Amino acid sequence: MDRRPGSKVALVTGGASGIGRATAIAFARIGMAVAVADADTAGGEETAGYIEAHCDARAAFIKVDVSDGESVKAMVQSTVERFGALDMAFNNAGVPDRAASLHVSTQENWDRVMSVNLEGVWHCMKAQLDHMLVAGKGAIVNNASRSGLVGVPSDGVYGAAKHGVVGLTKAAAIEFAAKGIRVNAVCPGLVETALTHARFGDELLTRARLANPLGRMAQPEEIAAAVVWLCSDAASFVVGVALPVDGGATAR
Ligand SMILES: NC(=O)c1ccc[n+]([C@@H]2O[C@H](COP(=O)([O-])OP(=O)(O)OC[C@H]3O[C@@H](n4cnc5c(N)ncnc54)[C@H](O)[C@@H]3O)[C@@H](O)[C@H]2O)c1
Repeated sequence: MDRRPGSKVALVTGGASGIGRATAIAFARIGMAVAVADADTAGGEETAGYIEAHCDARAAFIKVDVSDGESVKAMVQSTVERFGALDMAFNNAGVPDRAASLHVSTQENWDRVMSVNLEGVWHCMKAQLDHMLVAGKGAIVNNASRSGLVGVPSDGVYGAAKHGVVGLTKAAAIEFAAKGIRVNAVCPGLVETALTHARFGDELLTRARLANPLGRMAQPEEIAAAVVWLCSDAASFVVGVALPVDGGATAR
């Protein structure tokens, strides 16, 4: 068992980059052993290597394609084999919508966004719940989006997937609360990551930045802090929320 005595174990999908990377590091900084899961081997190994070198915590990279149920089962199994437990999971891996507008969105775009952003979360929760139900405890946070709470133009397919993530979160939260497992979601607004820059041009990003009540985008660490809190005992009575972390964007 490869973890410090008494330390808890967190699994982060999409841990190679952006919000997932920041969250893996935030978990490690409070002493958790972290399974950094991603399709991107180079980025995932870099995150795990950073944790081992700079945080007083253990980390391991696990390669996964969250759109593949068998790959996800193997990810959870590897986490438990390596660290001896699975206490919390952040289901975060995601891809941007490539369509400029709903009417020109392609079947390929729909399939890709749904299989990673919605089906991926479903696969992850199934495999994690299997383990947590035996353990009788656990905390799961799914990464939805502001697009999972309100309609965002040119984000229809992505928004449908993220509304689905909120629905899965609420249903699972109610079903498993009495079994000791808390399930919640975070709904970030625009965050300064590779995904955001891939999805929007600089001009759109500048406009979005200025339109936010705080006049800026979030840094990944600001989303990570909310995830760590939702997974902690400090949030012991927080169940089934879809928490906006968006600088007030959805409060309008
Ligand atoms: N950046 C934002 O403004 C923003 C806002 C709201 C929600 N989100 C959500 O946050 C999550 C993380 O986004 P980010 O901005 O950090 O993006 P990112 O591109 O920096 O990170 C996404 C990670 O997911 C991984 N990934 C993609 N497909 C995968 C698959 N099939 N299997 C395993 N890993 C896969 C990528 O390799 C990458 O490391 C996504 O679910 C995204 O929808 C982002």
